[in-house]
Amino acid sequence: MKHFLLPILAASIFSASADEAQKAKLIEIGKASFATCMACHGPDGQGVAVGPDKKMAPTLAGSKIATGDPAVFALSVLKGIQKDPANTAVLGIMAPLEATLDDEKLAGVMTYVRNSFGNKADVVTPEDAKKFREMFKDIKAPVLRADLEKTAASHKK
Ligand code: HEC
Repeated sequence: MKHFLLPILAASIFSASADEAQKAKLIEIGKASFATCMACHGPDGQGVAVGPDKKMAPTLAGSKIATGDPAVFALSVLKGIQKDPANTAVLGIMAPLEATLDDEKLAGVMTYVRNSFGNKADVVTPEDAKKFREMFKDIKAPVLRADLEKTAASHKK
């Protein structure tokens, strides 16, 4: 019995540590890429404050977009979010960043945000990032925040 179980055990331990190593690498890459996001979201992800009651961007801590369906998060970062004039609490614009982030950096920054500022969510791999870029390639303009989920869903096959 023992000699059947051992290789299985060894294989599962190996794959768990490979996953951990990949996650650590993605977080390291993402931490560096997060420099792109800091101007608006701040080093702590809370959103750079402008005066007493306004911010450049919303907090990423507990953000449903950041920690939820990675397709919706990827769509926001790749294409940007169309400015809603009714939302006067944030002064900045979520810019389209698809040209700035290659698949590894996109995966890294998403994994970093999903596992920082108190957030805890699944890893996004460079393969996932590539898939999202391909999935949304026909979208040429930032998407309204209210339409993000619907747009992501309509592009899933
Ligand atoms: C030029 C400023 C700017 C930069 C740079 C920027 N963002 Fe944003 N981001 C915004 C603004 C403004 C919003 C709010 C958009 C809205 O709801 O209209 C936003 C919204 C978001 C949201 C949705 C948050 C929520 O739940 O409300 C996420 C997630 C996000 N940004 C992630 C990122 C990541 C990751 C980066 C870097 C790769 C980044 N942003 C770079 C300004 C910026």
